[in-house]
Amino acid sequence: MDSDVREWFDVADAEEVAEGDVRTYRAGSDKVAVARAEGTLYAVQDRCSHDNGPLGEGCLIGFAVQCPRHGAMFDVRNGTVSAPPALVGIGTFEVRELDGRIQVAGTPASDDDW
Ligand code: FES
Repeated sequence: MDSDVREWFDVADAEEVAEGDVRTYRAGSDKVAVARAEGTLYAVQDRCSHDNGPLGEGCLIGFAVQCPRHGAMFDVRNGTVSAPPALVGIGTFEVRELDGRIQVAGTPASDDDW
């Protein structure tokens, strides 16, 4: 995911992702899980590397998002695995707050996406 051309997408009001929350948004063709931990926003791919679980529907424990399907955990700061059964890390996205909005740097959508 690091070599893609990305652009900023406005995804939500900043207040939608409160401390300890994780929520799913679309940024271009990317589905991302946006979390707020210790006041900072983080964004990771919404898809668990174990079996495609929706991470944005999981819960945030400290800096780790827990997959709702089988409990794998990933560090939202860098996408690394914090707990099995996942063995492979997940992609991360740049995220920022600007004028009260959350913006994520996603991949521009093309016709064959989604
Ligand atoms: S799909 Fe996420 S732990 Fe299995």
